[in-house]
Amino acid sequence: MKRFEGRVSIVTGGSQGIGETIARDLAAEGARVVLVDIQKDKLEAVAGSIVESGGLAEGREVDVSDTAAVERTVAAVAAAHGRIDHLVNNAGITRDGLLMRMKEEDWDAVLRVNLKGTFNFSKAVLRTMIAARYGRIVNIASVAGLMGNAGQTNYAASKAGVIAFARSLAREVGSRGITVNAVAPGFIVSAMTEALPEEVRQAYLEIIPLKKFGLPKDVASAVRFLLSEDAAYITGQVVSVNGGMYM
Ligand SMILES: NC(=O)c1ccc[n+]([C@@H]2O[C@H](COP(=O)([O-])OP(=O)(O)OC[C@H]3O[C@@H](n4cnc5c(N)ncnc54)[C@H](O)[C@@H]3O)[C@@H](O)[C@H]2O)c1
Repeated sequence: MKRFEGRVSIVTGGSQGIGETIARDLAAEGARVVLVDIQKDKLEAVAGSIVESGGLAEGREVDVSDTAAVERTVAAVAAAHGRIDHLVNNAGITRDGLLMRMKEEDWDAVLRVNLKGTFNFSKAVLRTMIAARYGRIVNIASVAGLMGNAGQTNYAASKAGVIAFARSLAREVGSRGITVNAVAPGFIVSAMTEALPEEVRQAYLEIIPLKKFGLPKDVASAVRFLLSEDAAYITGQVVSVNGGMYM
């Protein structure tokens, strides 16, 4: 039997990059994966390809920052499948710039998606998880949320926020059989990091002891572990997947 057979997993930002890899990984382990994203076409393509390869997946077009839409979506998933075992809060955006020049809308957009999106989905799944006395929530944070990063005050604050959120919620729901953890990736090859100039990429390589960038599958492995029974006694923790960039 596969590790996650019978489980229902929600992965936000699941239509590309790290979220897509996490979703494919969980589906390969037998979970029924509900992918959430704002990119409708990509969402359908990824869900379709998981189903084609024998997995269980469906896409739901939802903006994680839209509280009412998130509540409706989670209620529909719970009604359709009778359970929600896993939530991976992965949807995230950047709007980089030095604070002196940062527009209020860039601050708000990043906090709305990265932090409020995590609040929205976590709160919405809790009722079902508490009733089942079982649940696993993993927030995708960032090394920037641990060490800070010039040009990313908004992003770093949002990622430090999802870490503190995970620790606080872990304390609230531990007695209900629910664990809440964070995974903090370093520099992972993806659309988000491919946009960076070559000299910035080289500067990162110099401070990474493993001397290479990570891959989405490196993050997915950590998420898979935290969702699994092997991590049953781990809660409120941050697992760094950063090649040693910050330790
Ligand atoms: N790539 C890296 O090096 C890196 C490093 C540290 C942390 N992270 C974090 O990992 C997560 C995934 O990053 P990625 O590199 O795969 O980025 P990505 O941009 O490739 O993917 C992010 C996904 O989130 C979706 N999304 C954005 N706003 C949304 C919204 N409002 N509602 C629903 N979905 C939305 C996007 O459509 C996209 O599919 C993010 O939280 C990011 O902050 C990435």
